[in-house]
Amino acid sequence: MVGERRHTHPVETEYPAMKTPSLPRVPLAHLPTPVEPMPRLSSHLAGPKLWVKRDDQTGLAFGGNKTRKLEFLLAEAQAHGARTLLTRGAVQSNHCRQTAAAAARLGLDCILVLGGERPPEITGNALIDQLLGAEMRWAGEADPETLLEETFQQAWADGRRPYRIPYGGSSPVGAAAYAAAMAEFMKQDIEVDRIVLATSSGGTQAGLLAGARLHGFRGSILGISVDKPAAELKPVITELTNQVLGLLGSSDRVEEEEVLVSDAYLGGGYAVVGELEREAVYAFARTEGLLLDPVYTGRAAGGLMDLIARGEIGPEERVLFWHTGGTPALFAFARDLAEGP
Ligand SMILES: Cc1ncc(COP(=O)(O)O)c(C=O)c1O
Repeated sequence: MVGERRHTHPVETEYPAMKTPSLPRVPLAHLPTPVEPMPRLSSHLAGPKLWVKRDDQTGLAFGGNKTRKLEFLLAEAQAHGARTLLTRGAVQSNHCRQTAAAAARLGLDCILVLGGERPPEITGNALIDQLLGAEMRWAGEADPETLLEETFQQAWADGRRPYRIPYGGSSPVGAAAYAAAMAEFMKQDIEVDRIVLATSSGGTQAGLLAGARLHGFRGSILGISVDKPAAELKPVITELTNQVLGLLGSSDRVEEEEVLVSDAYLGGGYAVVGELEREAVYAFARTEGLLLDPVYTGRAAGGLMDLIARGEIGPEERVLFWHTGGTPALFAFARDLAEGP
């Protein structure tokens, strides 16, 4: 039955002794995700001690960071009696793929508004969207946000009880999943000085920052922007972090200066695979047998490798690379990657 609540159960989002309220959550992810050392990559880079947090292994149709957010967002959708999930993204959106999988898991319909024209060959994430039964609407020349709004109104008029999953899953409720993820990481008892991750809509970084405040993580958290200037992203992440803190019952607040975002690796723009991403994808694969995606984690890992090469991250540091998933896109970018590093 659609919209039923039997899957929902409250899960504590807190670390020992925290007095934060728990949020309703639908179990979708395999948690905790492993943290693994990357000794061969460390020595290849003559760099710091490196670990990876495997959120590419959250288990929902190839996993990724959106699975955690969807656990909270789907609880909200169920509370609204939703029968249809609706969201938008790029052709190779990992967010859309995981939303489609979550909808299938709960017996909900899913409508995806995808940017641009339907490509001649459906591959990578878009192929998985289709396998999962999502209705795919191609925006073509139209503004995807406008089409999304029209699609929502139509679905509502048709009695399909649509629920709009926010862009990138990055509402305060979605981002709160990463405050819980920070608690999860801290329980894994691996001390690091720095966390590096890919950032785009900012929800993952905001959740981690809120979690750091709530649970006392003392290292720094650096977001490598995939598509936006830091000046644009920092206020968004600051506001979202503070909203998450408020939602979780904390009156603590972060200031914009504390939000670390680098926009030094935007390269040719969103989803334009260059030398930086190629080198990172090959280095992780060949030293650790670990797959990155070419758009998000490849760019963030390329940034991390560059910061190490330039000595901005020193060999004495302990660094966690938070893998946010996205690997199905590898197949859609085969042409950019096939030539080698
Ligand atoms: C693989 C991957 N990594 C990182 C991100 C960025 O996460 P956020 O939108 O929470 O900043 C995304 C978002 O689409 C993603 O798909």
